[in-house]
Amino acid sequence: MTTPSPYTFVLFGATGDLSLRKVLPALFRAFRTGQLGADADAGAGASTGRILAIARKPMEAAAYHKWCEEHVRGHIKSDVWDEGAWSRFLATIDYMPLDLGREAEFGVLAERLAQRQGVRIFYLATGPSLFIPICEGLRSARLNENSRIVLEKPLGHDLASSEAINDAVGASFREDQIYRIDHYLGKEAVQNLLALRFGNAIFEPLWRRELIDSIQITIAEEIGVEGRGEFYEQTGALRDMVQNHLLQLLAIVAMEPPLSMDADAVRDEKLRVLRSLRQLDDDTVARNVVRGQYGGGAIGKSAVPAYVDEPGVPPSSQTETFVALKAEIDNWRWAGVPFYLRTGKRLGERVAEIVVNYRATPYPLLGEATAQAGANRLVIRLQPNESIRLYCLAKQPGDGMTLQTVHLDLAFDQFFKGHRMDAYERLLLDVINGRLALFVRRDEQEAAWRWVAPIQAYWSRQHKGPKRYAAGTWGPPAASALLAQSGTSWVEEDN
Ligand code: BG6
Repeated sequence: MTTPSPYTFVLFGATGDLSLRKVLPALFRAFRTGQLGADADAGAGASTGRILAIARKPMEAAAYHKWCEEHVRGHIKSDVWDEGAWSRFLATIDYMPLDLGREAEFGVLAERLAQRQGVRIFYLATGPSLFIPICEGLRSARLNENSRIVLEKPLGHDLASSEAINDAVGASFREDQIYRIDHYLGKEAVQNLLALRFGNAIFEPLWRRELIDSIQITIAEEIGVEGRGEFYEQTGALRDMVQNHLLQLLAIVAMEPPLSMDADAVRDEKLRVLRSLRQLDDDTVARNVVRGQYGGGAIGKSAVPAYVDEPGVPPSSQTETFVALKAEIDNWRWAGVPFYLRTGKRLGERVAEIVVNYRATPYPLLGEATAQAGANRLVIRLQPNESIRLYCLAKQPGDGMTLQTVHLDLAFDQFFKGHRMDAYERLLLDVINGRLALFVRRDEQEAAWRWVAPIQAYWSRQHKGPKRYAAGTWGPPAASALLAQSGTSWVEEDN
């Protein structure tokens, strides 16, 4: 475990939802487990870092600590909870009120930070409309030197708005100071996908069009919009999940081995994949992209309302809560292999997984079962549990040659015990330690926006809204029809 060099973690939006649910609990996990150079148990040396929480409301640090007691504590998982460590963690947090509309206040911030050694990390856990004023304020106070800036999605709502944000941030910070978070890249299972592909020689020859029939990537959620109706209404599943998480997973699955594991080497390869995605047009969007919106239904045994009945959502809403699509990559390795992506809220189960369907045997020497694509299949499950499962056909015991599907299982929690890092914890540690590989570079982000632009444009011209699906199902029937055109279907695993 490396101890980070001294740093100050400046958290803008310190009383917001993201801070209380994700950022502060993740910082506490890292603190508690000694990864911040702080004390994993009472009595060890002091942390090398401090947190400066910033929000508009005037209050003293003690009042902010009380606020953390009331709002953050409940989001810390019991596996790391420790009363003493929590008090010591709070002691590393200062508070400063700041009115972003007043540039002079950034001068006060600069004076305060001048007393601290080491690198400054500015984490913008605010709405995106504040990114530009904050970056300008920081530059005016010369706080953009010796610092890193962390941005959360949504980074714009389309290519033009994301370029505008990137230009404004880029006017104050160099690209190697900018950490754009896509929390899927911090998930353990995504790291394991890199380990699977590039740490083992046996998979490489199997990772190509000659053997692979199709690839499916699913991120399904049981939850609805969780009281965020107003935000979600402006966002929808395409911007919330496809443009970022799903396309990042696709890029990692499809990328070539990078020259090294350096940040730019990895990001160069992901970018090449995003740039090789076949451009969509009206015709292919109409045929290959399905959008849905949940109606009322049930999750388990509980009845849940339709999206349009959620608080903050107008009854006439056309916002999609589900997207399924077929993407194609025009490069040497993947030409002709469809990538099916889908995501949605209020689906049958919370699951995120990547399914690699292999081709059928050249001819059915041992019967029809072997002539089905997908009889051999590699399933990489990201959540709720992490596992890799390889499906094969084996002979049933007894007379005759009857084949049956069996699987080889790798369940990570059986091999690795002890502390599991969560995605935010990993990403925040990477920011503190100056490691950029798991953050999205500007060109990648813009390539992803460029690819989804024809979908956005087509939908905005359509009067017909999304197709309805009942909450608790797997989306509208059109999502199954999309795969049925090629004689295949979505794989829904029992794990
Ligand atoms: C976020 C989306 O980026 O990812 C949310 O804004 C979504 O709408 C969440 O619920 C899903 O993340 P995870 O890690 O729970 O799969």
